[in-house]
Amino acid sequence: MPTRAEALALLHDWNVNPSLRKHGLLVEAGVNGYAVDDGQDNATVEMWGIAGLLHDLDYERFPDPAAHGAIGADELHELGYPDEVVHAVRSHNDALGIPRESRLDHLVYACDELTGFLVAVALMRPSRKLEDVEPASVRKRMKDKAFARAVPREMLLAGAEEIGLDFDEHVARMVRYLSVIASEVGL
Ligand SMILES: [Fe+2]
Repeated sequence: MPTRAEALALLHDWNVNPSLRKHGLLVEAGVNGYAVDDGQDNATVEMWGIAGLLHDLDYERFPDPAAHGAIGADELHELGYPDEVVHAVRSHNDALGIPRESRLDHLVYACDELTGFLVAVALMRPSRKLEDVEPASVRKRMKDKAFARAVPREMLLAGAEEIGLDFDEHVARMVRYLSVIASEVGL
């Protein structure tokens, strides 16, 4: 299993776009938060987080929905990442039709789209702070079709359902988990 530092270097190697790098860090923070609250040991928390960090590894080079996730997963397999991580990366893109099975698969999916949406909501707050985002304001923004229109609303809801949480609870937890690295990503 490569180290977290090696994983971050890999992310930077494949993704020059700062937004994609930040997105990886945010999804990592979300998955880490869930892993800690699940009571996972430190090694598992780190490994699960790395799946979040690297889930979009191939996106900058291969944004095509038919390839995205599969190329990154193959690369991670070659580099010796555990099958759990590889599967979570491969199954996060619905277009590939790979069923999500493990808790980690579901967590990566649930944290993925929501991070981008939470950032967009945070930037609309006067404070521009993630920690000020509340579930009610997220729901309100979801109803506004013009707002962050690239984010499919049904995926946000499906993510919470896959991890067995009420949507508001998922939002509240994610705000808490992502706030840990807010300053690192400029929020
Ligand atoms: Fe993503």
